[in-house]
Amino acid sequence: MNDMRLTERTVNANDIKIAARKVQVFYGTTHAIKDVDVDILDKTVTAFIGPSGCGKSTFLRCINRMNDTIDICRVEGDILLDGEDIYNKKVDPVQLRARVGMVFQKPNPFPKSIYDNVAYGPKIHGQVKNKAELDEVVEASLRKAALWNEVKDRLDAPGTGLSGGQQQRLCIARAVATSPEVLLMDEPCSALDPIATAQVEELIDELRENFSVVIVTHSMQQAARVSQRTAFFHLGNLVEFGETGQIFTNPRDPRTESYITGRIG
Ligand SMILES: Nc1ncnc2c1ncn2[C@@H]1O[C@H](COP(=O)(O)OP(=O)(O)OP(=O)(O)O)[C@@H](O)[C@H]1O
Ligand SMILES: [Mg+2]
Repeated sequence: MNDMRLTERTVNANDIKIAARKVQVFYGTTHAIKDVDVDILDKTVTAFIGPSGCGKSTFLRCINRMNDTIDICRVEGDILLDGEDIYNKKVDPVQLRARVGMVFQKPNPFPKSIYDNVAYGPKIHGQVKNKAELDEVVEASLRKAALWNEVKDRLDAPGTGLSGGQQQRLCIARAVATSPEVLLMDEPCSALDPIATAQVEELIDELRENFSVVIVTHSMQQAARVSQRTAFFHLGNLVEFGETGQIFTNPRDPRTESYITGRIG
């Protein structure tokens, strides 16, 4: 699935969906992200890898302002989406999160029916004209998340009554229902069996035809399968960022090499 053509193409400014510059994140006095510059390209899957606690989730949450919800968290630096500062006071974080969707490591369905979990976003953002359109979006989203066949006969049942892996796919359906331009996925497959994992990886590959996807993963195999670009984080620093094939076969930094060969982690 790796698109080797990316290596032959220099990064064009028009391809940059998200530009992060000098990003710092603090939790109280803990300096969790240190001076990170990253370009996330459009129509590309970017993998964030690195040892536990290195700041992958923290940085991911900067991209749709989810850190705003953590009281002691302070974000500095610039993050631009299509050239616009997402931390500008004029930006409504709720609107931003419809454009930059997120799937969390732990499934967190709303205490609502399966149908309403998926319908919620398109409804509040006025993306559908009537019930028939909404039904279509709900079905298409559940199909994309490889959950439709398992739930089509019980759409009115509570989302929280599904198994862990089903709940995670429900959250993926909820995230894609608003057709986000960027989808942030924090270890989305950690609760999934190999079949559902393969289906989610297929979905990620489909999504990049139109959107950009950022996935945090502890699986090198998964990063190699689904991503075209990989960023390696270590102790809050972005150590190395480049084409996935290069990062895995010819890392430039010894810390990257140690991590991918299993010496640090
Ligand atoms: N809500 C929070 N409050 C205080 N400190 C936090 C919070 N979330 C993360 N941190 C700290 O920030 C640092 C980075 O954590 P983060 O969760 O981003 O790491 P990670 O790379 O996602 O790790 P993992 O692979 O285990 O998920 C850690 O030192 C962590 O303890
Ligand atoms: Mg994390």
